Amino acid sequence: MASPASRFATRIAYGARQLPRIAWYVGHGVVMRRLSETARRQAGASPRPRARTDAPVPDSRRLYADMATLFQQDLANVEAGIYPLPADHDGSLPFLLNRSRLFFEDLPEVHRRRESGELRQVLSEETRGKRPDYYLQNFHFQSGGWMTDESAKRYDTQVEVLFKGTANAIRRQALPPLHEVFAGRDQRRLRLLDLGCGTGRFLDFVKQAWPRLPALGIDMSEAYIAEAKRHLKPWCWLNLIVAKGEAMPVADESQDAVTSIFTFHELPPKVRRAVFREFARVLKPGGRLVLIDSLQFGDEPDYDGALELFPQNYHEPYYASYLREDFGAIARACGMTHRRDVNAFVSKVMVFDKP
Ligand SMILES: C[S@@+](CC[C@H](N)C(=O)[O-])C[C@H]1O[C@@H](n2cnc3c(N)ncnc32)[C@H](O)[C@@H]1O
Repeated sequence: MASPASRFATRIAYGARQLPRIAWYVGHGVVMRRLSETARRQAGASPRPRARTDAPVPDSRRLYADMATLFQQDLANVEAGIYPLPADHDGSLPFLLNRSRLFFEDLPEVHRRRESGELRQVLSEETRGKRPDYYLQNFHFQSGGWMTDESAKRYDTQVEVLFKGTANAIRRQALPPLHEVFAGRDQRRLRLLDLGCGTGRFLDFVKQAWPRLPALGIDMSEAYIAEAKRHLKPWCWLNLIVAKGEAMPVADESQDAVTSIFTFHELPPKVRRAVFREFARVLKPGGRLVLIDSLQFGDEPDYDGALELFPQNYHEPYYASYLREDFGAIARACGMTHRRDVNAFVSKVMVFDKP
């Protein structure tokens, strides 16, 4: 049991790390919206009409209250010893400023794509056939889709701006269900696979919690895997490979845990099912699957309108079908058991076991 003094020190350290991050990314969001309106005015366009929905949309008071709940949960996990005081490893100030510059530089292109609906700039003679067609799109309207080094360097800023600095705290909510199955076991003998690992931010937190756990990150983007290798360089017992989730080069029944963060809403329904079958194949009996992704309709009824509007503002071609996807049924069809869902701000943690 931690002493009151050490609990106080943990809380101060936690706040000192998280509050400037939130301010940084919320500030980026404010500047981004102002730039977007200025660009529209300069182009002679009328102010962007507010996207419409009849479903409820949370006001900023509710959003900030729910963000506070997420951070309280994150801190409670630290205080319960589930994971150490997290280090976000955002990089030095010059590094962050450079990432910020890349983010702002791409906004005019994002704006142009949003207005023109040009969403297939990644599908060219050069890329056709090298990746499935569903993958070769300008997801989030971003330049390069998932395919370029610049996109991989911008991604973390884009996601944190979208989530108001909560993306890492949301990712960490996959650690408690892993702790439930890892606690008391020799981490060196366990195996974890993270599919759609992107730039490796979640694997960083896995390693902070279990430094000697052998982990495998898989992603279909060479550029994102390269960025993950750079970010995760300090860690050992880590393998990062380019492959697709629907045909993973991983042995049957070899993994104790599989995770996938913010990836399932990017997949067409058929591919979601194929990837789930792969998860069931590679997990050992008794293995655990943890998914984190957006809330779905009805999870937090006050957010239903915001979920409906989201794909209108960001290019998310499979999000509408994701919102109604029945993950319990997909799991059952693969012989897996859906244990529970836990909401985490605008996302939720879904937990499944292989009997
Ligand atoms: C929204 S990003 C999520 C990245 C990361 N998990 C995170 O926490 O931010 C989706 C990632 O999934 C990858 N991806 C999409 N479809 C995939 C597939 N079928 N197989 C492997 N990776 C895929 C993309 O390349 C991208 O890096």
